[in-house]
Amino acid sequence: MKNTTIVTDNREEVRRISAEALTPEIVAFIESCTRGDHATSNLIGVLHRVQHHFGYLGREQLDAVAQLLQVPAAKVTGVATFYHFFRLEPRGRFVISVCLGTACYVKGAERVADRLCDELGIKFGETTKDGLFSLESTRCVGTCGLAPVVVIGEKVFGNMTPDQVPGLIEKYVLMAQRQDKEARESSV
Ligand code: FES
Repeated sequence: MKNTTIVTDNREEVRRISAEALTPEIVAFIESCTRGDHATSNLIGVLHRVQHHFGYLGREQLDAVAQLLQVPAAKVTGVATFYHFFRLEPRGRFVISVCLGTACYVKGAERVADRLCDELGIKFGETTKDGLFSLESTRCVGTCGLAPVVVIGEKVFGNMTPDQVPGLIEKYVLMAQRQDKEARESSV
């Protein structure tokens, strides 16, 4: 990762280095937020905007936000870590969301979730070391008739049982291998 921690009070220099970490559009957005009387009250909105663009909040993005908003880096990090909807690490290639809504819970979603944690070796909110899978929970996704439900990308897998979990993971591992192979072949 590039070291873009900003150690200057020169506004132009701050803007230039921040643009590398954030994009000029996000810098402009943050600067529009700093014009009001309550600049720091915009922090959550700014972090949402940054996460929407990058998919997560990395160290260099958090530092750039702190510098542009002129608030302590510790405060920015504190807000980012306090709210569960902010992610501090990139998500995996496949995001597995387990529905823990009432219908799914009653039908055994927790056992499916436990099996996923065991098979992947991660907890909810984490990503496997190979960057392939992230595990998240979600609330009702509107397919209660198929409970318990697991969602991977756009695809919904219903009536899941713990024993189906290894096969599901294997399916996506093979898909990743296929995609990598195709990417290698097309780049030759
Ligand atoms: S509770 Fe899981 S889909 Fe509705």
